[in-house]
Amino acid sequence: MSKSLRVAVLGPKGQCGSCVVDELLSRGHSVVGISRTPPKTWPKSGEYGGIPCDCSDIKGFSNVQSDGDFDAVVSAFGPPLVDLKSVYSVGVEGHGNIKMAILKSTFRGPFIIIGGAGSLFYKHGVQLCDDEDFAFKHWYAWPNVHLNYMSTRMFDHGQQALGRFIRLFKWARANRENPGWFSWLSWLSRPFANWCLRSSKKNLTNPDTIGLILCSRVALTMWEGVKDRNWSFLSPPWQLRDKGIRTGKYEVHVDDSAGSAEQGIDNGIYNEDMAVAIVDEVENNKLNHKHWTCTGPIGLKEW
Ligand SMILES: NC(=O)c1ccc[n+]([C@@H]2O[C@H](COP(=O)([O-])OP(=O)(O)OC[C@H]3O[C@@H](n4cnc5c(N)ncnc54)[C@H](OP(=O)(O)O)[C@@H]3O)[C@@H](O)[C@H]2O)c1
Repeated sequence: MSKSLRVAVLGPKGQCGSCVVDELLSRGHSVVGISRTPPKTWPKSGEYGGIPCDCSDIKGFSNVQSDGDFDAVVSAFGPPLVDLKSVYSVGVEGHGNIKMAILKSTFRGPFIIIGGAGSLFYKHGVQLCDDEDFAFKHWYAWPNVHLNYMSTRMFDHGQQALGRFIRLFKWARANRENPGWFSWLSWLSRPFANWCLRSSKKNLTNPDTIGLILCSRVALTMWEGVKDRNWSFLSPPWQLRDKGIRTGKYEVHVDDSAGSAEQGIDNGIYNEDMAVAIVDEVENNKLNHKHWTCTGPIGLKEW
C-alpha cells in the first residue's frame, strides 16, 4: 500500500462518491467528505470527517481546499435530479463554481473529476451525446439486465415515475423485438407499445432529460486546456452500475477524438471497481490532463 493520504471527496454520499470514500478508507487513507450535507460519520471503519459547504459559495469552498492540507481531491459532484428542467443549468453552475474554487485555492495536488459517458468519442469522431437520436437509440440498445438495474435504481431513489417509465420502455421494446410464443397477444398490444416507444423517443431526445449528460460535457471542456493544475477527467462508461461487486479488475481507456475510449460506450463497470480505478489514480497520478474511462467485468449480478 502507498503511504496514507488525506483526500477530499466532493459529494461523499452520492452513488459514485460513496464508493470512492469506501475504497479510500479500506486502503487506510483519511477522507474528508464535502457537500451541502455530508455524513458526519461513516459506517465503515477509518478516519472520516465531513465539512458542510455548498459549492455555490466559491470563497468558502476555495478556503476549504486551501486549508484542508489535502493530497488529492475527487469531485463526485452531481446536480440534484428533482427538477429535470434545471439539471443542466445547476450542473454547469456547480462544475464552474468548483473549478473557480479549485483555481483560487492553494491546493496543487491531483484533482479528479467524475463526468459522464456522453462525453466519450466514437471512432467516427462524434461524442456519444451528439450521436443521432441520443439517448433513445442508446437506451434501445441496452441489455435487459441494464434496464432492470436502471429501474431498480430509480425505485431505490424514490423516483417511482422514472422506474415505471423504464419498465414500460423495456416491455414495449420486447413487444416489438421479441413477441415470442404469445405473438398474437403482442400483436394486439402493438399499437400501445409503438405509442410508448414514440413517446419514449420524444422524452429521451429532449435536452432537459439529458441535462446531466450535457452538463458533464461542459465540465470536461472547462478543464481541457488547463495546464497549470493537475487534473484528470473520468467519464464513467455508459453502463455504470452501483450496489455491484468489487472485483478489483478494470481497464483504463484514454479518450481522444479518434475514439480510443469507444469501449466505454459499449461496456460498463461496477461502481465499486470504478472506485478502485479512481483511488489508483489518486495514489499513482498517471492520468494527469487526460480524459479517460474505465471498464470492468459486469453481469455478475442481476437486479
Ligand atoms: N454512466 C455515467 O456516465 C454516469 C452514471 C452515474 C453518474 N455519473 C456521473 O457521476 C457524477 C456523480 O453522480 P452521482 O450519481 O454519484 O450523483 P449523486 O448520487 O446525485 O450525488 C451527488 C453529490 O453531489 C453533492 N452536491 C449536490 N449539489 C451540491 C452543491 N451545491 N454543493 C456541494 N455538493 C453538492 C450531493 O451532496 P449534498 O446533497 O449533501 O450536497 C451528493 O453527494 C456526476 O457527474 C454524474 O454525471 C455518470
